[in-house]
Amino acid sequence: MVKVHYVIAVAIVASCVACINFSCIISLFYKYINRHEIIDIRQLNWTSSVRCSLSNGTRLCSFKNVCYLPKKHLFLFTLTEHSVLLGLSSKEDLKTIYLSSVVNHNLMSMKIAIVSNENKVTENAMFIDQSLFLLWRFKWDNIMHVFHDDLIPLFLTYLDICGEISRCTSKYTLGFVDRGEGGPYHELYSLFSNQQPLLLHKYTNTVCFPELHSGVLSSSVWFQYGFGQTQGPVNTSVPIEILHQFKDYVVHRLGISKKLVNNNAVIFLNRKLNRKILNLEYFTSILYNTVKEAYPSSEPKIIELDLTTHNIALLIEVFLTSKIVVGMHGSAMILCLFLIPGSVVFELLPFGIQPENVSFIKAFTEITGSEIVYRSWVNCNETLSFAHPEAPPLLGGIYHLPKAKQEFILNTKIVPAVECCHDPLYLFRMFQDTEVGSDFIPRFQEALLAQQLFSKETVKTTYLNKLFSSWYFPAPATNVSCTFQHQTLTAMWQPSINAIDSLIYDISILLDNNTILSKFTPYPNLKINLSYTAYTAEIWIKAVSFDSESLDSHSKCQRKI
Ligand SMILES: *[C@@H]1O[C@H](CO)[C@@H](O)[C@H](O)[C@H]1NC(C)=O
Ligand SMILES: *[C@@H]1O[C@H](CO)[C@@H](O)[C@H](O)[C@H]1NC(C)=O
Ligand SMILES: *[C@@H]1O[C@H](CO)[C@@H](O)[C@H](O)[C@H]1NC(C)=O
Ligand SMILES: *[C@@H]1O[C@H](CO)[C@@H](O)[C@H](O)[C@H]1NC(C)=O
Ligand SMILES: *[C@@H]1O[C@H](CO)[C@@H](O)[C@H](O)[C@H]1NC(C)=O
Ligand SMILES: *[C@@H]1O[C@H](CO)[C@@H](O)[C@H](O)[C@H]1NC(C)=O
Ligand SMILES: *[C@@H]1O[C@H](CO)[C@@H](O)[C@H](O)[C@H]1NC(C)=O
Ligand SMILES: *[C@@H]1O[C@H](CO)[C@@H](O)[C@H](O)[C@H]1NC(C)=O
Repeated sequence: MVKVHYVIAVAIVASCVACINFSCIISLFYKYINRHEIIDIRQLNWTSSVRCSLSNGTRLCSFKNVCYLPKKHLFLFTLTEHSVLLGLSSKEDLKTIYLSSVVNHNLMSMKIAIVSNENKVTENAMFIDQSLFLLWRFKWDNIMHVFHDDLIPLFLTYLDICGEISRCTSKYTLGFVDRGEGGPYHELYSLFSNQQPLLLHKYTNTVCFPELHSGVLSSSVWFQYGFGQTQGPVNTSVPIEILHQFKDYVVHRLGISKKLVNNNAVIFLNRKLNRKILNLEYFTSILYNTVKEAYPSSEPKIIELDLTTHNIALLIEVFLTSKIVVGMHGSAMILCLFLIPGSVVFELLPFGIQPENVSFIKAFTEITGSEIVYRSWVNCNETLSFAHPEAPPLLGGIYHLPKAKQEFILNTKIVPAVECCHDPLYLFRMFQDTEVGSDFIPRFQEALLAQQLFSKETVKTTYLNKLFSSWYFPAPATNVSCTFQHQTLTAMWQPSINAIDSLIYDISILLDNNTILSKFTPYPNLKINLSYTAYTAEIWIKAVSFDSESLDSHSKCQRKI
């Protein structure tokens, strides 16, 4: 490594002789530090090592000295006599390191080739002196997937491996393993990367890194798209607090400052390309009138937003300052993550589509402790629904299908939960345009009423109760002592410090190595009349409450002779 730095330093000095101004020197510096020299990595005494751990079933690995072969999308692990491999039970474990959080999507794993220094593959490699964090973006151009499948799991993984987000974001540069572009949400990914994220497939030469992390936690995931099962919500095992922290982190890093909440602002997410609302004038007028009726003291302000025309920081800022969101089902709904407590999300869905099956935002609002009111309206009137059988298959077209299949689709009026990803019935119904009917009004009125009845305190209490029922267990009894007096054995202890009403003590006593007695008592003491004169007693006490119990406390006593 010393050698590389020397080469770089010489190169910079040599180039600077011909370089006359400061910014030129700076740009030369970056040229060498960021783009680096092409070297034969083998001259560096190159040895790979790895250390893995399981975090609730997900493998997280930290590698040293690993190269990436872009033409074959392979990571090269150079095995030498100095390699250290820890936390792996066999080579099979090196095939199950997942670079994405998406449930059951096994394709997105790290592909490793074990090589020796004799292999020529690391010749002419480029050494990049950065700690890389590998991520396989699931759908880098879709804001919903960017948040739900990449950024939130990344945030969670950073918390897990670094303890604090900033420790990871100042250490790691993201390395994208998918074959995508930087994409429209590059700015968001950058918030989780020390330097601009690297698109690994764009390199022409082999690239080598001194350090590399792989493995992404998926326990924040609350929706799955139907890989190996039908689509629908997943019970996330992540507390809502993590999602709140994620939101705060993004807001802070985007430099969005706290603004006053505009109580009469209504965000209207309008889709302009497909899944459109056709009678916009009528729709915005009933929106306006219903909000005005519910909140008569102020003039409603309808803010129409669209992902294609507004930048992400601006969109998030508007979500932070509004309390009512209405929109047709679509990826922009994910921005409801940024709403403040007591906001209402009203989702519209095309004819035949069931929110229970498709709505990731409904699933989000059902996470315990989410402080958002969710309601939906599904178009129930087929004459107000406008399908596009002529469209390309991925936008709901069906003309490419056999006649019988087309008939089947046209005659199916409710779409069941489907498996991913190109179910033509699902796409056909999902890409219908809609004329909103007057039956929207009572649903929306009810949603606004529910918003008025919303109580942050109730949500907090429910959440706290859920936390306690998941995590509470009694502390052990302490200071256990026992004494003999005639035929009586007396045991005493200090009560469990977090005892609750239902708590009892489960006591086992072993007399003279042969008789076992079991007793329960709610009190922190016990007197037992023995039927014979015992000489020694060992006593174990467990504090028990409902289905949770403490660790055992133990004591031993002997009759004084
Ligand atoms: C190569 O590196 C290993 C440790 O990684 C070290 O023990 C060994 O001495 C090094 N060999 C040379 C020739 O530098
Ligand atoms: C999530 O958990 C709750 C409570 O345990 C259960 O009622 C519900 O059916 C679960 N939902 C899913 C999608 O597994
Ligand atoms: C651990 O994983 C299991 C199975 O995936 C899940 O049910 C559980 O909730 C997870 N626990 C935590 C604390 O994430
Ligand atoms: C799809 O939605 C229907 C209607 O709410 C529900 O009965 C069904 O269980 C859902 N399926 C899945 C997989 O969530
Ligand atoms: C469906 O919409 C059409 C056109 O507006 C209307 O004539 C019809 O009564 C509606 N049907 C129902 C069931 O509301
Ligand atoms: C319990 O035992 C600890 C030492 O193990 C002692 O410091 C403490 O005073 C005892 N408490 C009582 C109430 O006896
Ligand atoms: C109980 O067992 C221990 C070890 O097994 C032994 O030293 C002790 O004498 C026994 N006590 C009685 C009362 O049998
Ligand atoms: C134990 O014996 C004493 C005296 O023989 C008696 O007063 C007491 O009620 C007995 N206690 C129990 C729990 O049987």
